[in-house]
Amino acid sequence: MPKDKVILAYSGGLDTSMMVKWLQMEYGMDVITCNLDVGQDKELKGIEEKAWKLGAINHYGFDAKEEFAKEYIFPAIKANALYMGTYPVSSSISRPLIAKKLVEVAEMEDAQAVAHGCTGKGNDQVRFDLTIKALNPKLKIIAPVREWKFDRAGQIEWSKKHDIPIPVTADSPYSIDENLWGRSIEGGILEHPDIPVPDDIWDWTADIMNTPDEAKYIKIGFEAGVPVSLDGVNYNPHELIMKVRDLAGKHGIGRIEHMEDRIVGLKTRETYEVPASETIINAHLDLEKMVLTRHQKLLKYEIDHKWATAVYQGLWIDPYKEDLDAYINSTQKNVTGVVTMKLHKGTAKPVSRESPFSLYDYNLASFDINTHYDQGDAIGFINLWGLPSVSAWNLKRKIADEGIKEMGKKVVPVPTGDY
Ligand code: ARG
Repeated sequence: MPKDKVILAYSGGLDTSMMVKWLQMEYGMDVITCNLDVGQDKELKGIEEKAWKLGAINHYGFDAKEEFAKEYIFPAIKANALYMGTYPVSSSISRPLIAKKLVEVAEMEDAQAVAHGCTGKGNDQVRFDLTIKALNPKLKIIAPVREWKFDRAGQIEWSKKHDIPIPVTADSPYSIDENLWGRSIEGGILEHPDIPVPDDIWDWTADIMNTPDEAKYIKIGFEAGVPVSLDGVNYNPHELIMKVRDLAGKHGIGRIEHMEDRIVGLKTRETYEVPASETIINAHLDLEKMVLTRHQKLLKYEIDHKWATAVYQGLWIDPYKEDLDAYINSTQKNVTGVVTMKLHKGTAKPVSRESPFSLYDYNLASFDINTHYDQGDAIGFINLWGLPSVSAWNLKRKIADEGIKEMGKKVVPVPTGDY
């Protein structure tokens, strides 16, 4: 009888390398490894070779940068996605893509199971498991870290015994997850929120002390809600994001450190480097303020918030997220234009913007010109707009003067006063 097959999301690191052997030994399965390039800075070369050495029977390596940028980061830009107002969901959006690829490979290979390296304490397991279950409920999901009882020392010992190469960085205290949209750093001393984060965690962003004294101005061009050009030159989605990431990183933009509510109920302290996300979202938000009506924008703040929360919470494949996308996409038709961003000493701020769909009208807004905006109209408008508030104050005064009349004895008309 042929062995069952499992598709493993393989990063080439110690954990998932152990898993190749562990799945073979504990589950008696043939292991097929799968790796996605989503723009992590790490060297991806040697990964396939490592997988063969560990006895994988097949390996799939995908360059998923373009798909990740277009199908996952672009929607996040349109939604100005910031979980808890802070974290641009960079790791969160890569999981449904990786899960989708695992399912595709499993179907191609007629595999019975998929496996990933998530722990039982994190959000990523929720995102992986939920997406996999939705796309193919027949697949068994194996998450060895949720089952094996190793501590770090036990892991190293087991790896030595089974000839698993231990990377020099194995004793790095941090767990790092990178992609085009951001870099997450967790673990070690970072688990003490009362201690400031040490400098050695940062990699993509310069320390403010070492950033240029002179500001850098860049022009980001948007078409229908997504960035298409930098300083007038068009780029592919992932190239553009990488260019902004490098430029903004040099100016120390996008260092984030905050307390976060995980899906699984834990509160954790999280740190991120997100130079591209911070710059591009700030620019996009600014352009929206110019081209959307007040009412569109007010609802969009709420929908954006719900989108980021849903995506963080693993609901990428839920129809609810599609419904939110429908509103968001409908608002993006006119989000076309150019925003000039000033990158300086850790901040990325819009300094000017223009759009063919601008709703700003100089002739209406200017203090300098007398136009068909009749300032006299403002008086009547303020009377009606303020009516509820003024009425409440009139009542407050009346009660202070006369006290509250008993109900049922005498009908007391509520005074509205003059307005
Ligand atoms: N807290 C972030 C999130 O849930 C980052 C997760 C990073 N993942 C990792 N395996 N290190 O989206």
